Amino acid sequence: MTQPHVSSLPGAPQLARRGHELWLEGCRLADLAKVHGTPLFVYSKASMRSALAAYQRGFAGRQATIHYAMKANSSLAVLQVFASAGCGFDIVSGGELRRALTAGADPAKIIFSGVGKTRAEMRQALQAGIGCFNVESESELEVLSEVAQGLGLRAPVSIRVNPNVDAKTHPYISTGLKDNKFGVAHERTLAAYRRAASLPGLKVVGIDCHIGSQITETGPYLDAMDRVLELVEAIESQVTRLAHIDFGGGLGINYKGDTPPEADALWQQLLAKLDARGFGDRHLMVEPGRSLVGNAGLCITEVQYLKPGEQKNFCIVDAAMNDLPRPAMYEAFHAIVPLTERQAASTVYDVVGPVCESGDWLGRDRALAVQPGDLLAVLSAGAYCMSMASNYNTRGRPAEVLVDGEQAHLIRERETVEDQMRGERLVG
Ligand code: LLP
Repeated sequence: MTQPHVSSLPGAPQLARRGHELWLEGCRLADLAKVHGTPLFVYSKASMRSALAAYQRGFAGRQATIHYAMKANSSLAVLQVFASAGCGFDIVSGGELRRALTAGADPAKIIFSGVGKTRAEMRQALQAGIGCFNVESESELEVLSEVAQGLGLRAPVSIRVNPNVDAKTHPYISTGLKDNKFGVAHERTLAAYRRAASLPGLKVVGIDCHIGSQITETGPYLDAMDRVLELVEAIESQVTRLAHIDFGGGLGINYKGDTPPEADALWQQLLAKLDARGFGDRHLMVEPGRSLVGNAGLCITEVQYLKPGEQKNFCIVDAAMNDLPRPAMYEAFHAIVPLTERQAASTVYDVVGPVCESGDWLGRDRALAVQPGDLLAVLSAGAYCMSMASNYNTRGRPAEVLVDGEQAHLIRERETVEDQMRGERLVG
């Protein structure tokens, strides 16, 4: 496996090689590692803004709200970038609600997804005055109505439809097929809307669908839209008018030469379909996560040891599956490049972490010219990396830096062992 050329690195154009050194916006990454240590997540604000701008261009002239799916990266300063740009948020827990509000979110632009909302979470969200609950089952409708009534409120709801389309992505991140746990089956949807409209604690406001993640083709979106619009027609003629249509998130990014459509190009096609079917005047909502932050981030890690072997050579680094779980969980590919290029022959390595599991790898069969002490950047690490990081092996989660031009802001301190042990008790 050869390393990608810098101009094709995921994250370009904010990521650039100047001389032999890697820079993100106006910051030299090696300097950030020196100040903050490794492993270190670094994000480009300009890159997030330009990813968001593609959606904004796509919706120009429409009534639309972009709800950043904050599970992708829920660090407060990242949320702040999107809140200050006028985005809403797609949340999936009471914890995410707290984070969004702390970062300055407008509660009316928060939508709450997820199959297992608890009564306590529903109460919290109702009291905060969120914009919509994306309800994922018929039994959730009953519980939400009861909880809202208890507070003397009516909960605004959409029903998440499972359109049964194949998003053609990794099975763990495909969510719109019949055998997934998500949403209400297409054929049950109309009955669920009738029930929702009859419940005293609910107010039907929209319809929702999300078919999966890291989608790199337009076809599945167009299919899902057809399926959803069939339902919108039926619901509006038989139950009630829907004020908004939410098409979820899912748009993929470039990890390894992937070529997903740009958000504006995708939406041009989807809007044409929407207009053709007479629903172009509805308030549109989307819930993108990865496509807003994925290519904006990277993780800097230091080479600890090189371990040649008969079958494999290992490059052992100080980041691990607890920091960056996507390779271990989904066999996901992340490009790995040296921060400072060496003019030396490269060797093929498996890049692995120090955690005591064979699944603890970050990259396989990578050609690298490295020595212990060198720094590497694991690319496209802005989404579903830090937000899925854990403390496995009692490893503190990494620090995070947000780069804005020549300024680098520490947005999260490295987690200490004391942080990890807080709240634990010895017995006796
Ligand atoms: N809306 C809902 C209801 C979702 O479940 C998700 C993601 C999104 C929006 C945002 O999807 P995105 O635009 O980020 O594709 N950990 C996995 C991805 C899990 C996605 C879960 N749901 C990964 O690292 O690939």
